[in-house]
Amino acid sequence: MNYRHAFHAGNFADVLKHAVLAALLRHLQRRPKPLCYLETHAGAGLFRLDAAEARRSGEAAGGIRRLQGLAPASPALAAYLGVVRRLPGNEDGIRCYPGSPLVAASLLGAADRLVLTELVPAAAEALRRLFRGDARVAVHCRDGWEALGALLPPAPRRGLLLIDPPYEAADDFDRVAGGLEQAHRRWPVGVLAAWYPVKDRRALRAFMRQVAAAPLGTGGVLAAELSVRPDDNPAGLNGSGMLLVGPPWGFEEELRPLLDEAWAAMREPAAPRPRLEWLRRPA
Ligand SMILES: C[S@@+](CC[C@H](N)C(=O)[O-])C[C@H]1O[C@@H](n2cnc3c(N)ncnc32)[C@H](O)[C@@H]1O
Repeated sequence: MNYRHAFHAGNFADVLKHAVLAALLRHLQRRPKPLCYLETHAGAGLFRLDAAEARRSGEAAGGIRRLQGLAPASPALAAYLGVVRRLPGNEDGIRCYPGSPLVAASLLGAADRLVLTELVPAAAEALRRLFRGDARVAVHCRDGWEALGALLPPAPRRGLLLIDPPYEAADDFDRVAGGLEQAHRRWPVGVLAAWYPVKDRRALRAFMRQVAAAPLGTGGVLAAELSVRPDDNPAGLNGSGMLLVGPPWGFEEELRPLLDEAWAAMREPAAPRPRLEWLRRPA
């Protein structure tokens, strides 16, 4: 596996993923009951944007750095930006960027739990160091796809699962579709989220059809997509999205202003507007 998230930390895709994650957690927190947050592909948890990898790619310049001076109207976007701005080292400019586990840990409460799976030992070790002394967090250095079977359903039973693979392997879309199905079977009350890249629109349509037809309960499947360039731009990754299985009631309305604001800050010329689409409406 060649994937190193340090090259991509804080790019426009991370902004979408982490802002939607913050919005979901805030929504779930409206009921004062403990939550469990799980990840299959957790990453290292914290990235320096002045490290060699991030400087070489420069991707944060088109992502989080575009939101640096923003005062968002969307409360969820403001919560996410607050997490980034409060990181030690970010007092006068964004030098560090939180991975999804740190975004979640920063927003969750003392009674909540985090179960994080990461295959690469160095990244799993970095996660353990980051959360040393935080009794809410369990880090498992193992295959995230296998962990789905072993770790679900979690305790407490309310919560959210994020599936965020590198999409390096040809079958990653199939594995995500299968992973969502398996996770829903084992944990029907859990909210499920999966990040996906917008590169090849035809392949993406086939994936969406597969997910729409899968046995994923009656809570509906919502796709929230933000592209910063037109689909046919040769840049490669032009956008990304989050698939949400069984999103909380009313979440769609909360997401729309967040997507619009983040898109307006990061878009390049001729970028299509953000899409919020039910692949399957709640029954
Ligand atoms: C896109 S990155 C995750 C980023 C992280 N979720 C975030 O938003 O900060 C994908 C991660 O999956 C890890 N990985 C790759 N294959 C895996 C597998 N089979 N099981 C668990 N982790 C895996 C990689 O080492 C990498 O850290």
